[in-house]
Amino acid sequence: MKWFNLEDNINLLSLIGALAIILLTLFVVGKYVKQIKDSKSEGELSEHNWDGIGEYKNPLPVGWALMFVLTIVWAIWYYLVGYPLNSYSQIGEYNEEVKGMNAKFEKEWANPDIKTLHAMGEGIFLVQCSACHGITADGINGKAADLNIWGSEQGIVDAIIKGSKGLDYPMGEMPPGMADEEGAKAIAAYVAKELSGIKKTTNENLVEAGKAQFAVCASCHGDDGKGMDGMSPDLTKYGTSDFVVDVLKRGKKGAIGAMPKFDDGRLNALQQKAVGEYILSLTK
Ligand code: HEC
Ligand code: HEC
Repeated sequence: MKWFNLEDNINLLSLIGALAIILLTLFVVGKYVKQIKDSKSEGELSEHNWDGIGEYKNPLPVGWALMFVLTIVWAIWYYLVGYPLNSYSQIGEYNEEVKGMNAKFEKEWANPDIKTLHAMGEGIFLVQCSACHGITADGINGKAADLNIWGSEQGIVDAIIKGSKGLDYPMGEMPPGMADEEGAKAIAAYVAKELSGIKKTTNENLVEAGKAQFAVCASCHGDDGKGMDGMSPDLTKYGTSDFVVDVLKRGKKGAIGAMPKFDDGRLNALQQKAVGEYILSLTK
């Protein structure tokens, strides 16, 4: 193996640099050794004398003295204004800047219309979510929930048949097979129309039957579907961006990995709402 390659410019430059440093070191060391051997010191001796070893009166070099004084001034400034007493820190300064930027962001997007939210949400989705959910949000060939369906009436049918887990609610998991296909359709019609944020159903005629069968769901989600104070998901939010925001706050485990909690500073409140609106826009 060749340990250096002269055709590589970077190698060559490093080599020349190393050579220059060695030559410079030799020169400087040589100069001092020669000085120690040859030079006779001169000047006025102070009266200090330690067993024959004397000391010359040398004025301080101006640059050195200046640096010395400046260091003391800086030390006093640093102690009083800087870190120890004033709790200055670089992380703190960074956090302040982030806060400032967020305030600016909030001011600029104080009242975004739904089109703005969709556009903002799409950008966020492509950057933050598509790596796991796929660019088209289809869950990468069934590896994860198809977000083009999730959040719609069909999403409720899916949840009833396949169950759901990973959101880490106190109630634990929702088991699969809570109802057969017919039952699931009916319950989904009722939940979609009467409880959730979807507020409509494609199976109007099943709503009554679904209402009666919702009893099996009520033991965990409550009669009103509100999730019994956070024990399980609040189904009245299903189909709205609020439900997505809850998902982003909790994170979720699944076959494609663990979705992190996104409200730890990764996404601010408006960005969470925006990406939620974007996902729901896919189901329509
Ligand atoms: C590290 C991978 C990962 C990333 C990044 C990710 N997710 Fe997820 N997400 C998951 C997993 C895993 C699930 C559960 C999948 C399943 O149940 O099939 C999930 C489920 C969901 C669900 C359905 C929730 C439910 O209750 O079934 C929504 C909505 C969602 N993600 C939104 C998002 C949004 C919005 C982003 C970007 C801000 C995002 N995800 C980023 C992995 C990820
Ligand atoms: C044993 C308690 C339990 C029962 C019974 C139950 N659920 Fe759930 N449900 C849960 C829990 C817990 C979750 C959150 C699951 C998770 O971590 O993803 C959930 C989630 C859901 C979701 C959201 C799924 C998603 O993809 O985000 C829907 C919709 C839902 N349930 C509807 C129903 C309906 C309709 C019924 C009745 C057929 C029902 N549940 C019965 C506990 C239950």
